[in-house]
Amino acid sequence: MAKEFLSDIKTIRARARKHIEKGAVTEGYRADRDTVVRLLNEALATEIVCVLRYKRHYFMANGINATAVAQEFLQHANEEQGHADEIAARVVQLGGEPNFSPEGLLTRSHAEYVEGESLVGMIKEDLVAERIAIDSYGEMIRYLGNDDPTSRRMLEGILAMEEEHAEDLASLLATMDAA
Ligand SMILES: [Fe+2]
Ligand SMILES: [Fe+2]
Repeated sequence: MAKEFLSDIKTIRARARKHIEKGAVTEGYRADRDTVVRLLNEALATEIVCVLRYKRHYFMANGINATAVAQEFLQHANEEQGHADEIAARVVQLGGEPNFSPEGLLTRSHAEYVEGESLVGMIKEDLVAERIAIDSYGEMIRYLGNDDPTSRRMLEGILAMEEEHAEDLASLLATMDAA
């Protein structure tokens, strides 16, 4: 059976004129917007906690002359900041409000803030946090399915980078074990 194109252009045009204050969110938006905004705010909290943890690790590693590892931490911190910004912008696009409040940040975040006692301890904690992020982004992506392709694509891009981060950290650990 041939696939039908669902709405005729007249219906789409008429619907588009209603509720123009909703901007990018049209009647055709299929996901549960409140849930998506809540999930994105949890992702935002996760990214902010990761920025803070990587920054702490960057300055501590720099202090003990572990320059190469420190640079890796700094790069990750900056990339997590980029993710936080992307997510916050998408929340606004969906008509929600990005939650940057320090209050409850750790409760909203999926990843933890662990300072780590040694350089290896820091890398291990960052790897754990990346693995948490990988699983929670995977779940969000599966939840969104085809209901919000824009949020899903954004999260897929972020997920790919968290996988790179995890791989970077695992390689660092392996070289340090060998040393
Ligand atoms: Fe991230
Ligand atoms: Fe990451």
